[in-house]
Amino acid sequence: MEIDVFTLFPQAFDWFREQRHVRNALALGHRLDCVDPRESSTLAGRSVDDTPFGGGAGMVLRVDVMEAALRARYGGDPVELPRRRRVIALTPGGRVLDDAWAAELAAQPELTLLCGRYEGFDERIVEHLCSDSLSIGRYVLAGGELAAMVVCDAVLRKLPGSLGHAESAVEESFSPALEGRPEYPHYTRPADWRGWRVPDVLLSGHHEQIRAWRRERSRARGGPLQ
Ligand code: 6GU
Repeated sequence: MEIDVFTLFPQAFDWFREQRHVRNALALGHRLDCVDPRESSTLAGRSVDDTPFGGGAGMVLRVDVMEAALRARYGGDPVELPRRRRVIALTPGGRVLDDAWAAELAAQPELTLLCGRYEGFDERIVEHLCSDSLSIGRYVLAGGELAAMVVCDAVLRKLPGSLGHAESAVEESFSPALEGRPEYPHYTRPADWRGWRVPDVLLSGHHEQIRAWRRERSRARGGPLQ
């Protein structure tokens, strides 16, 4: 898959690209590119934002600047773009990301993520140039970059081959394999530490009993998230 992240801070992604599952995904031919809207700005001083109409704090990303950046990247009129590919505005008020949505995004051949900064986007960007708006939770971050990395992390690790073991992403927290519930607890050596013993069933070698125990522990940890 090809992910384009539109960000004023492309260097913020240097660390992320070095992470093993990201490197694995890139080595498999997937792509993660950063596009800096400042580079296609024709405004004085390559400006990208302006003060909000109606007053108030902060700066707002301009619709003409985002349109120019999308046009420079993809050609044609960006208003057509959301029909062809998911163009997602990252904004605290968007639809909250969950595992099912991450899986849906992982099935897309192409994704575009737009990072907001300052007070956020001119609403016309979200309304006319995007297919979705996405939030990673009900709190406010200074910018969309961390949210974009969260989305890329959740999506890329679902691609076959990006994790060490193909199974790792199948039976994990919130997956359909666990009926949307959190994962069961894991243990490793030592089997006894300060009297804190690993549950006997996990040492028993009875795979059917282990499966049943894990299912039961997952259920006890919480119902499916809606
Ligand atoms: Cl996507 N952006 C920002 N700035 N803050 C957030 C967010 C996104 N999701 C939760 N908080």
